[in-house]
Amino acid sequence: MEFDKSKWADTDFSRDYLDKAEIYIAERSRMFSIVKSFYQHFVSLDRPVNLLELGSGDGALTYELLKSGRAARAVLVDGSGDMLNKAEARLREFDIEKQFLHCSFGELIREERLPAGFDMVVSSLAIHHLTTDEKAALFNKIYQILAAGGYFVNIDVVIAPSDSIENWYMEIWKDWMCAKQTALGVNDPVEDVIKRYKNLEENKPDTLDSQQLMLKNAGFQEIDCYYKYGIFTIFGGRK
Ligand SMILES: C[S@@+](CC[C@H](N)C(=O)[O-])C[C@H]1O[C@@H](n2cnc3c(N)ncnc32)[C@H](O)[C@@H]1O
Repeated sequence: MEFDKSKWADTDFSRDYLDKAEIYIAERSRMFSIVKSFYQHFVSLDRPVNLLELGSGDGALTYELLKSGRAARAVLVDGSGDMLNKAEARLREFDIEKQFLHCSFGELIREERLPAGFDMVVSSLAIHHLTTDEKAALFNKIYQILAAGGYFVNIDVVIAPSDSIENWYMEIWKDWMCAKQTALGVNDPVEDVIKRYKNLEENKPDTLDSQQLMLKNAGFQEIDCYYKYGIFTIFGGRK
């Protein structure tokens, strides 16, 4: 499905996500701090860092990485112009070269929109909107545009290997959302969030195993899952 036909092209839908991301996404802040730790540990300091975020939304993850003061250039890609405007405002305080590229993943795969040479490519909760074949094509594209030795780190939701494990993962997620809502004094029926996630045509998660195999087929090395909590994972590899 092309981006402009998806729910993310609807401004009200994307704003609702931004308002509630800390509730909907289990351990979102922790996942961001793990990616930041990865960035600080692996990305070399002996030359300026060239960073790319795919499906950046309002730039929350890039913001965390830039706080470490390491990047010289950050490129953010998203299909939503509204999200990119918010990302631009959020990142205004960083005096580095920035590019906000309004483009769908489909366009990114089919066209030469980005030059090669990125030291790290990150993404958060965006690539599961692609079909299995599109994910494989995007991973190939990421491999192409990474500099030698560069890393791809992806925060995303995955499907469980069986229905019984899936049921447990949904329970864990429900417990997270209930606890978070209690702490924030919010009351949004969590069953609806889970139903929306499961039924929404835009969500096409694949298993962790199959995506790690896609990375291997694309040529990545040191592929691993760096974090997992139910359906929420961080995985990636090195070129
Ligand atoms: C769940 S939000 C995540 C936003 C942000 N990365 C975060 O973690 O808060 C998914 C983002 O992916 C973008 N997106 C979804 N499908 C896309 C596509 N096919 N091409 C480009 N961007 C897409 C949406 O516009 C949205 O900003």
